[in-house]
Amino acid sequence: MWFFTGPKIVFGPGSVEFLSSLKARKALLVCDRFLAKSGAHERVVAELRKSGAEVEVFGEIDPEPLVARVLEGVEIAGKVQPDLIVGLGGGSAMDVTKAIYALYERPDLTVYELTPLVEMELGKKSKLIQIPTTSGTGSETTWATILTEGEGGTKLELAHRQLIADWAVLDSNLPSTMPPKLTADTGADALCHAVESISSEWSNPFSDALSKEAVHLLFRDLPRAVADGKNAEARESVHYAATMAGLSFGNAQVGVGHALGHALGSVLHVPHGRAVGVFLPYAVEFNFPAAREKFARLAPVLGESSVRDARELSARVRQLWKEIGMSTSIREIGGITPEAFEAAIPELVTRADQSTCVTANPRVPSSEDLQRLFRAAWEGKPIDW
Ligand SMILES: [Fe+2]
Repeated sequence: MWFFTGPKIVFGPGSVEFLSSLKARKALLVCDRFLAKSGAHERVVAELRKSGAEVEVFGEIDPEPLVARVLEGVEIAGKVQPDLIVGLGGGSAMDVTKAIYALYERPDLTVYELTPLVEMELGKKSKLIQIPTTSGTGSETTWATILTEGEGGTKLELAHRQLIADWAVLDSNLPSTMPPKLTADTGADALCHAVESISSEWSNPFSDALSKEAVHLLFRDLPRAVADGKNAEARESVHYAATMAGLSFGNAQVGVGHALGHALGSVLHVPHGRAVGVFLPYAVEFNFPAAREKFARLAPVLGESSVRDARELSARVRQLWKEIGMSTSIREIGGITPEAFEAAIPELVTRADQSTCVTANPRVPSSEDLQRLFRAAWEGKPIDW
């Protein structure tokens, strides 16, 4: 017996209007610092106030969010006693919102207890709404929250089914102001979710269907959304594709590309989408011998010839990366010297080895494999072993 879980989804340009229909009394809005600074969150605050809600804004979420930020948010929630908690922003803001929601509902727990092994009945005080303003992380649909222990510290990969939002609101007007680089980074993350989940050991007919459509939409529309951010049709398509890919990996897990990417992100400070994106061609090549039939499910959207062997599939990814200006090697990302990379290898391997992302990877990587994958991705050399 398997379960397929996700939030209820409201979608369409302007769909933040849905918030007023929830008739909240007190709402806590958690959002990215840059959104709060720019005033971009005001549109959401206005919708919440339409039905008379008092709104408290906690707008101090930065990339690679710290556990300390969650604890601040829990304290605010304890004072405000919201009946609606809303996460607005990219993956960091939505991840922090999940943890704030859980610990507000269950003040007896610590962040470290947000694991599937702990029984928790959430939703007694508040509903949880997630509103992505980028198109890629899929955090609005998933039960995972990635937090950082302290500045430069380890990433905690926490998860619980009760952290899935009641509603995800996909308003495609929100990502329309993303600059091209952020559109590319976050879109690459979405493609990684779709491709890694289709080759996962836990893939299933429902996740496969969503992965396939997400791959189709991203190959077709991500270059258009990067080239012209004002292309509303491409923006909307990529926004929904990201959520489809989120639903897929939320139910089927990602793979070694994310294990490598999380390590690179936390040790050498590369943004998530860029960090996982650079590894996707190498993850495909490494996994292909163990997941040939699973990758073949992409034939209807990429064509038979693209899924015949590892090199052809990874070439399609590299081609797309070139079109959207994504790096195809770590060296190309820039800002990391060969010496710094070499010195970081032991730590990178340890972190990738400990990542829960390899749990359902079709080919179990040894520490030696991980080291070779890091070195190959630095040089830009395809994997043929
Ligand atoms: Fe991701």
